[in-house]
Amino acid sequence: MCGIVGYVGARQAPPIIIDGLKKLEYRGYDSAGIATQNGKGIEVLRAEGKLVNLERLLTSNPVSGSCGIGHTRWATHGRPSVANAHPHRADGIVVVHNGIIENYLDLRDRLIEKGHSFSSDTDTEVISHLVEDFYRESGDFLSAVRKTLTEVRGAYAVAVLCEQEPGKMVAARSGSPLVIGQGQEEFFVASDVPAILKHTREMIFLEDGELAWFAGNTMTLMDLAGNPVTRLPKTITWNPAMAEKGGYRHFMLKEIYEQPRAIADTLAGRIPDDQADVVLEGLGLSDAELQSFRKVFLVACGTSWHAALVGKFLIEKLARVPVEVDIASEFRYRDPIVDEGTLTILISQSGETADTLAALREAKGKQGKAVAICNVVDSSIARESDGVIYTHAGPEIGVASTKAFTTQLVAFILLALRLGRARKSLTDERLGSIIAALKTLPSKIQDTLAACEHMEEIARIYAQATDFLFLGRGNQYPIALEGALKLKEISYIHAEGYPAGEMKHGPIALIDDQLPVVVVATQNESFEKVFSNMEEVRARGGQVVVITDCADDGLKGKADVVLPIPSIADELMPVLTSIPLQLLAYHFAVLRGTDVDQPRNLAKSVTVE
Ligand code: G6P
Repeated sequence: MCGIVGYVGARQAPPIIIDGLKKLEYRGYDSAGIATQNGKGIEVLRAEGKLVNLERLLTSNPVSGSCGIGHTRWATHGRPSVANAHPHRADGIVVVHNGIIENYLDLRDRLIEKGHSFSSDTDTEVISHLVEDFYRESGDFLSAVRKTLTEVRGAYAVAVLCEQEPGKMVAARSGSPLVIGQGQEEFFVASDVPAILKHTREMIFLEDGELAWFAGNTMTLMDLAGNPVTRLPKTITWNPAMAEKGGYRHFMLKEIYEQPRAIADTLAGRIPDDQADVVLEGLGLSDAELQSFRKVFLVACGTSWHAALVGKFLIEKLARVPVEVDIASEFRYRDPIVDEGTLTILISQSGETADTLAALREAKGKQGKAVAICNVVDSSIARESDGVIYTHAGPEIGVASTKAFTTQLVAFILLALRLGRARKSLTDERLGSIIAALKTLPSKIQDTLAACEHMEEIARIYAQATDFLFLGRGNQYPIALEGALKLKEISYIHAEGYPAGEMKHGPIALIDDQLPVVVVATQNESFEKVFSNMEEVRARGGQVVVITDCADDGLKGKADVVLPIPSIADELMPVLTSIPLQLLAYHFAVLRGTDVDQPRNLAKSVTVE
């Protein structure tokens, strides 16, 4: 992970870089640093902890220059400290890096033998020393970086400055994201679009093994061998306001409340008025191909993996094809059975998660077809897949995923309908009724948000609890897992999600009057069974909070808190039940005073394995 920003142009670089880093803090916040070319040399300033510490340092030690680089770190090699903070400097060469250099120990030994001395525990520092070594030999900055990048193994997005070459910068990527923003005689470099969206919407997405050379007001793209590369800029439709808090206290809250809009965008243009079929423009698979699959793998990490668990229900139910769900970091190490008859679907908000990207490559390497469900347009996973369904959730900045998750659920419904249609497992009537329900989804989400307006009070009742259990069954079991994950991520409260029917095989032993149990009970075929599980909890003194679309007053005596939400077709219910759980976690976190948008130890985009 980590976030990098670079600027070359006529304006002062520091405010542009700091502002960009603010938008990238979701990628890591263990330390931050900046380096600028000020006409006399390169100034480097670094601080441990969040960006605000670097900003304080800049107030007392301002730096200047119209060419610079910056970094916000998520520690992998070397603990969070000033010494391990980027930019890393070797003599006149200064580097920021996102990724992991796997052969850094070998390179380091070699460089130490040649007389280099290292001042950090990071893998990154070898890059600065190696560039410096080649530059000392040749006096050619660009070729020194190119040579270095052919020697390193692993993943990188880098931006490099050279003290002897004012106004010049090299940026390159392999395995970690990097986007170039093209302005009027100025260029921006960043790990992600929101960091530079304020300045330009014209973006060039570098491919692996490509490099950009900035000299004055020109940019040249090439591969590591120096062969020219042509890549036209794409105009990004996101607007800068989408990456701001817009009056909300936290990005997470804003993103929860954006869900009616986000889901309307996921649906836009995909469900025609005649309700005959769904249209998935980027799927890239014909009806014949969709019919030919014998097996589907759904592969993802974290919250996206929970979306995949819901996706299994949808695809198996509506398209009648067997689905296996895998955690991306497990998938490729177990030699999965993938062939031409397998469709692998990668689910990733960022489209850059290293494990999910590796799983995609594994599936494609075995001749399987691969399709991505992604939020970030032109991300690595989106580009390398045979087809993509964009969720169109807009930028998600809060580290804990909310709108990206519910839009993934909607993307799965659309895909399951499309597959079901192509495979003739879905009647016109069924398709028509789900499409009709989909059309009401944004307003039902609005109603669900309204139904949750007292969530803060509910959170207050249980504010002292140290453990939580979340129960759900069928398509609500993944929602129970997601509810527990949200709570863990942002409020640091221990929580477990469990299939309600499995509770009797273990977790029931935990139940006492100190344990709040959140039950997701929707009116489907397992409603009564979940209801019985709730009774089992109550019988043992557990406190029950139930989230349900059942308006029966009789429920009130059966649970300590009943949170009624609207009803919709069962296939779509997981979207609605997610919302109270997001808000519950949010309010717990606020009550506990944690850092909601940037919870400790986490990062939004995990580009390391
Ligand atoms: C990190 C984030 C999670 C996210 C997961 C997968 O762990 O903190 O919120 O669900 O990565 O990310 P992706 O971008 O692939 O969906």
